[in-house]
Amino acid sequence: MSASWRRLKVLGAMMMVNLFIYVMVEVSRSGGREPGGSKVRMPSKRFWTRNPSIEAYWNREQQRLDRVHNPILGGENGSSVALPIWPGWTNATDELASCDPDPAVTRLVKDYNSLPARFKDFLVYMRCRSYPLLVDQPHVCKDQPFLLLVVKSLAPHFDRRQAIRESWGRAGRVANRTVATVFLLGNAAAADHHPDLSEMLRYETSRHRDILQWDYRDSFFNLTVKEVLFLDWLELRCPNASFVFKGDDDVFVNTPRVLDFLGGLAPAKVRDLFVGDVITNAGPHRDKKLKYFIPESLYVGQYPPYAGGGGFLYSGDLALRLRNASRHVALYPIDDVYTGMCLRKLGLAPEKHKGFRTFDIEQKYRSNPCAYKGLVLVHSRTPQEMIKIWGWLSDPELNCQ
Ligand SMILES: *[C@@H]1O[C@H](CO)[C@@H](O)[C@H](O)[C@H]1NC(C)=O
Ligand SMILES: *[C@@H]1O[C@H](CO)[C@@H](O)[C@H](O)[C@H]1NC(C)=O
Ligand SMILES: *[C@@H]1O[C@H](CO)[C@@H](O)[C@H](O)[C@H]1NC(C)=O
Ligand SMILES: *[C@@H]1O[C@H](CO)[C@@H](O)[C@H](O)[C@H]1NC(C)=O
Ligand SMILES: *[C@@H]1O[C@H](CO)[C@@H](O)[C@H](O)[C@H]1NC(C)=O
Ligand SMILES: *[C@@H]1O[C@H](CO)[C@@H](O)[C@H](O)[C@H]1NC(C)=O
Repeated sequence: MSASWRRLKVLGAMMMVNLFIYVMVEVSRSGGREPGGSKVRMPSKRFWTRNPSIEAYWNREQQRLDRVHNPILGGENGSSVALPIWPGWTNATDELASCDPDPAVTRLVKDYNSLPARFKDFLVYMRCRSYPLLVDQPHVCKDQPFLLLVVKSLAPHFDRRQAIRESWGRAGRVANRTVATVFLLGNAAAADHHPDLSEMLRYETSRHRDILQWDYRDSFFNLTVKEVLFLDWLELRCPNASFVFKGDDDVFVNTPRVLDFLGGLAPAKVRDLFVGDVITNAGPHRDKKLKYFIPESLYVGQYPPYAGGGGFLYSGDLALRLRNASRHVALYPIDDVYTGMCLRKLGLAPEKHKGFRTFDIEQKYRSNPCAYKGLVLVHSRTPQEMIKIWGWLSDPELNCQ
């Protein structure tokens, strides 16, 4: 009796152990499973923390946007569950996109008065995302381009734009694909002591019909504004572009290589395509002397993975989704990080492509034509270098075996 009872107990214990192992295996399996098969998918939960003790202004603004756009908590209809509200906050959605200067930031950013002027300028207009379009090109995408080349430029960079038109940015039929090109400009305001180039710009615009210009101050910290304005424009004027390349006016792009790469993509890769020179595990620089310095009163936390703003390539479909996601991400003064934040909002991450050389190639290869054959992008190149490299790549005699 007691022996069989003991055997029963041992049996029971073994069954419990088995059940435990089974549960553990199931839990770890479902935890590791990724929606969408083998595709790399980032969790779509927010990467910025929701700690209410956080003082950083961007994080608080984002928390507020999350709340307003949350259908349960915030409700764009104003239905709202009581949540702690930061002093000076209101619930209204239109408040979040106001273009009036925001006087509250001087109170809400704790070291506002000691911040460099560019931060004050950024913070006061951080909620403004719409500026008047001064120069439009409604026709640019009428042929439904396979590839839209989008170049961030500044009004005085006439030579760079012309070199791009004469080399990698030539619009029309390229390798049997339709390519369209636009240059994105803000307003180099007289307030920044820039000479008045508007007549020359007017001529360039009528001659080439590839300039888009908005009426906002074209500064480094407003590049994110350039990004969201472009995405709005794309949705309106170019929603059928299959792919978009967006980059600076001092890069060389091997356009035939880009077309080749895009043509060879597996259909399953197309929809979520976003490739570039990807930076992971980065965070804000806290050294005041650096160009990318961000004070702790503005942002705390790591950056999501992002592709360096020198140039990246993505699908038109994703561009439209990014446009929607950008409405739900507070503007951040560094544009490529901002795009990474929007991607993260969509549950995606950019993919590294080793053909994007935003930190250039080794000095000893720079004058070797064959070094450019397999590359997608090199930064930086002067207008003359762009034309020279394009000549090398276009030479049918070029033999790189
Ligand atoms: C918001 O209001 C509209 C119309 O008044 C309604 O159709 C929609 O369901 C509401 N949404 C939420 C999240 O309550
Ligand atoms: C926000 O909405 C809640 C609930 O509707 C309301 O009680 C609160 O007063 C609102 N806050 C502000 C600052 O408007
Ligand atoms: C060019 O594209 C057209 C239509 O997309 C196709 O019919 C044609 O075969 C292509 N030509 C070459 C040389 O690939
Ligand atoms: C961005 O542009 C707006 C509109 O011109 C301007 O008021 C603001 O100061 C600019 N921001 C920066 C950081 O230059
Ligand atoms: C985009 O394509 C759709 C479907 O082919 C078409 O109905 C629409 O007019 C196109 N839009 C533009 C701006 O070309
Ligand atoms: C973007 O949002 C609008 C309005 O909510 C919606 O109609 C549209 O389908 C969205 N676009 C994409 C690509 O998700």
